[in-house]
Amino acid sequence: MLPRALNTADLPDLNLIQTHCYEASMLESVDVFAGRLQAAPEWIWGIQDDGGLCAYLFTYPSRQGHLSPLNGNFYPACDGDTLYLHDLAIHPRARGLGLAQRLIRHAWTRAQMAGLRHSALISVQGSERFWEAHGYRTRTELDDRQRACLAGYKQPARYMTRPLDRPTTGSDPDRLRDAG
Ligand SMILES: CC(C)(COP(=O)(O)OP(=O)(O)OC[C@H]1O[C@@H](n2cnc3c(N)ncnc32)[C@H](O)[C@@H]1OP(=O)(O)O)[C@@H](O)C(=O)NCCC(=O)NCCS
Repeated sequence: MLPRALNTADLPDLNLIQTHCYEASMLESVDVFAGRLQAAPEWIWGIQDDGGLCAYLFTYPSRQGHLSPLNGNFYPACDGDTLYLHDLAIHPRARGLGLAQRLIRHAWTRAQMAGLRHSALISVQGSERFWEAHGYRTRTELDDRQRACLAGYKQPARYMTRPLDRPTTGSDPDRLRDAG
């Protein structure tokens, strides 16, 4: 069950997983999914089990302080410094197996290879503690534009970041890269 790159053939499965993982107000359009796959094909991965695709992670290279709106397109930054995790979802049948952790670590390794020194995300659906366990911390010093972006999620949402060049206990990207 190794992460693999996703493509437009995966769109029906991606949408199915999304509907199992997010409340209705959070659902993003399949067209937006397709645009992201086109914009950042090297930064989006999934994992399959015997039932097909069961987990996905959408990321792209960005810059510190740039937040990604719900239903927004990806604009990968050529000179970016930050791995932005936009959407991580594991089908309920495959939760608790470490697949989320596997996808996150895969993304960290890829980002480190690309020279990105930070990672950021917006935590929703009460996932803050999950992200804290992976070394992310909530940033509260936000400007008006960033606050407006968080408000667009229409539920409690937090901007969280972590360095990629300073591993944290239990979430050491270098150790994981060595482990493959
Ligand atoms: C959050 C989510 C990605 C975790 O996926 P997963 O494959 O079960 O995660 P893993 O197996 O890698 O890790 C499981 C660990 O995370 C913990 N965990 C899972 N969801 C959590 C949450 N919301 N808050 C705190 N801890 C959480 C589990 O308790 C478990 O801890 P343990 O290893 O100490 O027992 C999955 O529940 C999901 O897809 N949720 C719906 C979509 C979502 O909310 N995504 C995040 C939006 S920012």
